[in-house]
Amino acid sequence: MATTASQGILSDDAREDRDQIVEMLKKAYFMELETVISYITNSVNPDGILAREISESLDGDIQEELGHAQQFAARIKELYGVVPGSMEFTAEQDFLQPPGEQTDIEHVVDGVIAAETGAIEHYNAVIEFTEGRDPVTQDMVIAILRDEEGHRRLFEGFKREIEASRR
Ligand SMILES: [Fe+2]
Ligand SMILES: [Fe+2]
Repeated sequence: MATTASQGILSDDAREDRDQIVEMLKKAYFMELETVISYITNSVNPDGILAREISESLDGDIQEELGHAQQFAARIKELYGVVPGSMEFTAEQDFLQPPGEQTDIEHVVDGVIAAETGAIEHYNAVIEFTEGRDPVTQDMVIAILRDEEGHRRLFEGFKREIEASRR
């Protein structure tokens, strides 16, 4: 009996594709973890009336983003990869740093839209690469992409409200 899979993404023949997918999943894993940090920060710091709504919304997203990170980690292992340690982490979300004024909620809204857009772009690339190669990863990332599209849509609504309030 063969000890390795003869078909699919776990087969010996698929090693190169598998390594490429693991690298993409590592990036996704750290993107999600950085989002957790940024959303905790920005769910606590803001002051003001609209800020309350936005803080509550971010607060709700934290668990969801953490769940995404856990799904990416599990899939890395299933693909014979190793989930990276924290020393491999490099922060990238310069757009989600606390604003100078904690009532500057538009800064937070713009930052969240940027973070979600970054995730959406990366997950679309994963979906494209896994097409015909790894349907299980693709399926998982499609479901996560839907969450991110929902997050971005919600914050686009906040952005429209802020813009309308200036008119
Ligand atoms: Fe996420
Ligand atoms: Fe998200």
